[in-house]
Amino acid sequence: MSSPHILILAAGKGTRMKSSVPKVLHPVAGTPMIVSVVRTARAISPATCTLVVGHQADAVKAALAGEPDIRFVVQEPQLGTGHALMQAAPLLGGERGTLVLLYGDVPQLRPETLSALGERHEASRAAATVITAMVPDPTGYGRVVRENGEVARIVEHRDATAEERSIAEINSGIYAFDLEPLFPALAKIASDNSQGEYYLTDLVGIYRRARQSVASFLIADPAEILGINSRSELAAIARRVWRARNEALMAAGVTIEDPETTWVDYGVTVGPDTVIKPGVTLQGRTSIGCRSVIHSGVRVVDSDIGDEVTVLDHCLIQGSRVAGQASIGPFAHLRPLSEVEAGARIGNFVELKKTRVGRGSKASHLTYLGDTTVGAGVNIGAGTITCNYDGVRKNPTIIEDGSFIGSDVQLIAPVRVGRGAYVAAGSSITDDVPAGALAIARGRQVNKEGWAEKKAGHKGTKTGHEDTKTD
Ligand code: UD1
Ligand code: CA
Repeated sequence: MSSPHILILAAGKGTRMKSSVPKVLHPVAGTPMIVSVVRTARAISPATCTLVVGHQADAVKAALAGEPDIRFVVQEPQLGTGHALMQAAPLLGGERGTLVLLYGDVPQLRPETLSALGERHEASRAAATVITAMVPDPTGYGRVVRENGEVARIVEHRDATAEERSIAEINSGIYAFDLEPLFPALAKIASDNSQGEYYLTDLVGIYRRARQSVASFLIADPAEILGINSRSELAAIARRVWRARNEALMAAGVTIEDPETTWVDYGVTVGPDTVIKPGVTLQGRTSIGCRSVIHSGVRVVDSDIGDEVTVLDHCLIQGSRVAGQASIGPFAHLRPLSEVEAGARIGNFVELKKTRVGRGSKASHLTYLGDTTVGAGVNIGAGTITCNYDGVRKNPTIIEDGSFIGSDVQLIAPVRVGRGAYVAAGSSITDDVPAGALAIARGRQVNKEGWAEKKAGHKGTKTGHEDTKTD
């Protein structure tokens, strides 16, 4: 097959989504649906790839900034799918060969299906070849009306008679066209329908009347041509995509205990013998190594988790790196640019921000470390907090190798705790601690012997409360 030109329609608002975001930018498994469609198109190395944009055109273009070699045409106003195609006449009207038309709201299409469509079309020498499918519930789709087995016309659901609505064969909206007769025929489309729009589907009837043939390509599995028009369809298709992602991961040796509640976005990688417990979400550019265990309620975004890592229940890990054999959680929050080195332990209710925790170090309970560099073999006591923000600037804290920070310490940054130093529990550390020193910075305890008895003796004259105030 010669390389076809590709045109993707993505100008519509997506009224049924009831959204301030254009429909084609809604993500499915973490990727905006238009990005998936463009990637499918590019996978067959088309001669050219053009997008019709309109509603919030700049936002749609911005979402595709990372995709090379795409051309845009603007459809303003948006008067229907036929009208959208007409806008491409200046770019494609002079071209010859095959044009494959895709919709921005059909994100599951496979490149293999596109190639098969192109081959089928070129073999049939038809003016147009349309992909059709038999679906159990055709509500909302255009129906393929056949006469003597041939495609005679496509009728939109809202314009269809009760009899036509009973047809189970639907128009996928994906076609291959012979470019030569295409734009002259498009000029004949009218907008005399229930929506007052220029329907691309009318082209079928126009070709038939001109005795030009329209071929069809019935695909066996309708799943990949399902369109997304509503939030409900978005959820249903996202679920299918996640399900397929999980099947692929399981086939590659990952244990997923409950595939129904495990959501792994496109682009995430997971190594073999890793176990994923129910209710885990892995998003963005995330990678998980081998033999790790990710417990329930964990969400990992744009992060790299190494081999044999344990992430206990209900952690959020964002833009961070966790090296092999580390342990995180339960209930820990790794905010962006955090790094946990091999064998380190980040425990209950610990928050890291832009913080590196060295090899084998531990922060096991109730701690906040921000803009901090923790060396190797450090113990951070329960309730330790870095006071990294002075109201204007974020200041760094450095805790060197082998030091020991007692419980409930505040490290008032910028501050450095030297190698092997100790900081006594309850200290507010404002000055650097030299290597090997013990720093104590807290109020001294005073014990008042016999105080309780004295208080009881005063009963009736003064209240105990007054006594504590005057003492
Ligand atoms: C369309 C088909 C229907 C088919 C279904 C398959 C028509 C008239 N109907 O219906 O037969 O079964 O797709 O999913 O073609 N768009 C524009 N400009 C516009 C209008 C739409 O670019 O003026 C784009 C949309 O952004 C969208 C695509 O075209 O990506 C399809 O539009 P949509 O309104 O969803 O068409 P359907 O009603 O689903
Ligand atoms: Ca649609």
